[in-house]
Amino acid sequence: MKTYNVAVAGAMGLVGSTMVRILEEYDFPVNRLKLLESKEWVGTPVRFKGETLYVEEGTEEAFEGVDIALFATHEAVSARLAPAAAKRGAIAIDNSRHFRLDPNVPLVVPEVNPEDLKWHNGIIANPNCTTIGTIVVLKPIHDLSPIKRVVASTYQAVSGGAIRGQLELKKQCVDIAAGFEPSPPSVFAYQIAYNLIPFIDVFEADGYTREEWKMIHETRKMLHEPNMAITDTAIRVPVLNCHSVSCNIETRDKVTVEQAREALSKAPGVKVVDDIEKLEFPQPIRVSGGNLVHVGRIREDFSIENGLNLFLVSDNVRKGAAQNAVQIAQVLVEQGLVEEWQRRS
Ligand SMILES: NC(=O)c1ccc[n+]([C@@H]2O[C@H](COP(=O)([O-])OP(=O)(O)OC[C@H]3O[C@@H](n4cnc5c(N)ncnc54)[C@H](OP(=O)(O)O)[C@@H]3O)[C@@H](O)[C@H]2O)c1
Repeated sequence: MKTYNVAVAGAMGLVGSTMVRILEEYDFPVNRLKLLESKEWVGTPVRFKGETLYVEEGTEEAFEGVDIALFATHEAVSARLAPAAAKRGAIAIDNSRHFRLDPNVPLVVPEVNPEDLKWHNGIIANPNCTTIGTIVVLKPIHDLSPIKRVVASTYQAVSGGAIRGQLELKKQCVDIAAGFEPSPPSVFAYQIAYNLIPFIDVFEADGYTREEWKMIHETRKMLHEPNMAITDTAIRVPVLNCHSVSCNIETRDKVTVEQAREALSKAPGVKVVDDIEKLEFPQPIRVSGGNLVHVGRIREDFSIENGLNLFLVSDNVRKGAAQNAVQIAQVLVEQGLVEEWQRRS
């Protein structure tokens, strides 16, 4: 079997370290794995497939000889290094927001629009973590009847703020339980323990946050529906991991609850967890660490003619980032697109 030289940039971060684990879990055909990081991490040992690898510095030259470069870095680093990797013949799969809306860069969730991988030019973007979980559920419904409008409210875990975000929640919970004032926030705008914060990321002039616009623009791009009506409210909640989304969906034609449930139960990457008798519904603590997006509370919206309500939960670090990137790499390998790019570049 052909094997590939793979690099993970940001390998010690929350998403990057999860990528390394998923490459191993998926038994990805790795020839050589390069772990790239900021200077601070150089020389750190990491176990991979029974071997000890040592972290190297993430520079432009580090991508020499790399076939697939997975980026789990922040925007400025990705913006600089992903084109450098592509220039050296690698296909870069980036998790930052930098390339997502670039018309020359495919934005891909393999369960939804794998066909878009064919027109890449060396860089492929991974969507926002909340968008990925949501679109995996929207697509099977959109295939039953075109979606006219989506109203989403997202309940996003502190892991969206990386390991620092998780530590901030844990520390504040410990402080409060011990009877002290919670330590002041540094990752989030306000205390997150015993609270929620009804905005994520910076505000735009229209009163929406950048996080909310990501979901709107990225969903339209991947479904190839530039005018689809979508609105979103992004909320940070004191959950360690997994983003939840409450979705109201209006379709052109009637989609019954039974039809939606059947389509979702057959959809790749989705698990229907929806049992009123047993009180089984999607919950972050049950989804964390898994590969599937859980969907439940599927019911008719009686306030409009063709409406559905549902609630979904996905692991934002895995499916929302690391796993989706590795799945993209798998499709590139299966379709011979890595070799095709090396001939083209
Ligand atoms: N967390 C999530 O749920 C999530 C979901 C979807 C997408 N994303 C996106 O994924 C990316 C990574 O997020 P994260 O949560 O994993 O953040 P993170 O834990 O802060 O990881 C980013 C890593 O990149 C490293 N880095 C800095 N300069 C580098 C260089 N020149 N070469 C290689 N690595 C370098 C950082 O090292 P230092 O800390 O030493 O600078 C850090 O370890 C971000 O773009 C984020 O927006 C995150």
